Amino acid sequence: MSSYIIEGGKKLQGETYVSGSKNASLPIMAATILNKGISKLYNVPNIHDTQMMIEILKNLGCKVKRNGNKLIIDSSKVNNYEIPENLMREMRSSVIIAGSILGRYKKASFSYPGGCDIGARPIDLHIKGFEKIGIKTQEEHGRINCFADEIIGDEINLDFPSVGATENIILASILQKGVTTIVNAAMEPEIEDLQKFLNRMGAKVEGAGSNIIKITGVQQLKDVSYNIMPDRIEAGTILCATAITGGKIKLKQINPIHIAPILDKLREAGCSFEIKKDIINFEAPKRLNAVDIRTTPYPGFPTDMQAIFASLLCVASGTSVIVENIFENRFKYTQELQRMGAKIKIEGRTAIIKGSRKLYGAEVKATDLRGGASLVLAGLVAKGKTKIEDIKYILRGYEKLDEKLNSLGANIKII
Ligand code: EPZ
Repeated sequence: MSSYIIEGGKKLQGETYVSGSKNASLPIMAATILNKGISKLYNVPNIHDTQMMIEILKNLGCKVKRNGNKLIIDSSKVNNYEIPENLMREMRSSVIIAGSILGRYKKASFSYPGGCDIGARPIDLHIKGFEKIGIKTQEEHGRINCFADEIIGDEINLDFPSVGATENIILASILQKGVTTIVNAAMEPEIEDLQKFLNRMGAKVEGAGSNIIKITGVQQLKDVSYNIMPDRIEAGTILCATAITGGKIKLKQINPIHIAPILDKLREAGCSFEIKKDIINFEAPKRLNAVDIRTTPYPGFPTDMQAIFASLLCVASGTSVIVENIFENRFKYTQELQRMGAKIKIEGRTAIIKGSRKLYGAEVKATDLRGGASLVLAGLVAKGKTKIEDIKYILRGYEKLDEKLNSLGANIKII
């Protein structure tokens, strides 16, 4: 198991860039199943999770060629509709491929996606949505078998604006008969990127980015080339790394609208910045102010930034309160931050953080992707050396994070 060794105390300065979005790439890669042809994807981050999705696509009969951040996927010979257990367990978001297999085959078989360290991660909203458009589902021995004679459009009201459920229902509806309307749909930018990709492939999807999405079934799809949007959480992570070290950077390849809620909170914490198209010149204050955070669905403050922002607040002046409204167990990382001297009290879905002047290097473990990233940021500012074990979690979602931060003056080694 690899680890990071981080020597803290360096201010981040210079310039770096943001890679393509993990959470836009995964549903778009799944969507390539729908057309029996060639999809060329650019700016796909070369990370564990996209590699896992490539394995799943190959397992279904796709031919996949990766050349750096470019993928060529040939789905003409897809000949299987079962997602293997081990790959489902490896990455719970692989449930997203069920929608596109159903869209093409009207049948799919997959196992319950493994939960993970941020909560139970149920898929009841996915299943309820499928059943509303004529898909029958039955569960046996932990596997879910779905099938439909016809997929017929209908109106689906989501109890919660689930990102995955919204994406899965869109994918299952692309080749349907009729029209499906999703009410209380998730509004995350990754869903807009999925809509743009699908429409370029000849689908008819409208309303992504709003809470009502309409999918009109089509019969024919065509080959497509598409450039994945920048990763808004990676952008937020690099900006927060700069903020926690009191640094000053230029960050390229961002989408400023997507990171607006993160920038609002960084401004409140005392940071200043100037945006020119897809570049941000960003500067941190000597000492950050305490800031209160409540995570909500987009366009509110993203839950994926909660752990990362918490690290900043551990060295801010004053007491901050974080309320995590999306996942029921997304504070595990705080036990590791406490080993570095952080003063954090957890009460249910609330974390109370008393800012202190210093954190101290320690041996800590990454518990999940974003929790791991929060430990990297704490290591950057801590006095002395920090060893972060189980960095496989971090490598799932960040492309060359250590290289990018080292290019800004950090001192991170992999052992
Ligand atoms: C997506 O996960 C993202 N993953 C997550 O990012 C992100 O945290 C999350 O959306 C929220 O923004 C990908 O896009 C691959 P949800 P997803 O369905 O789709 C409950 C990261 O760090 N729920 O919006 O799984 C669920 O338990 C990852 O990059 C149900 O109850 O999120 C959770 O409490 C972590 N029933 C809440 O909704 C369902 O059927 C949000 O889940 C589905 C979800």
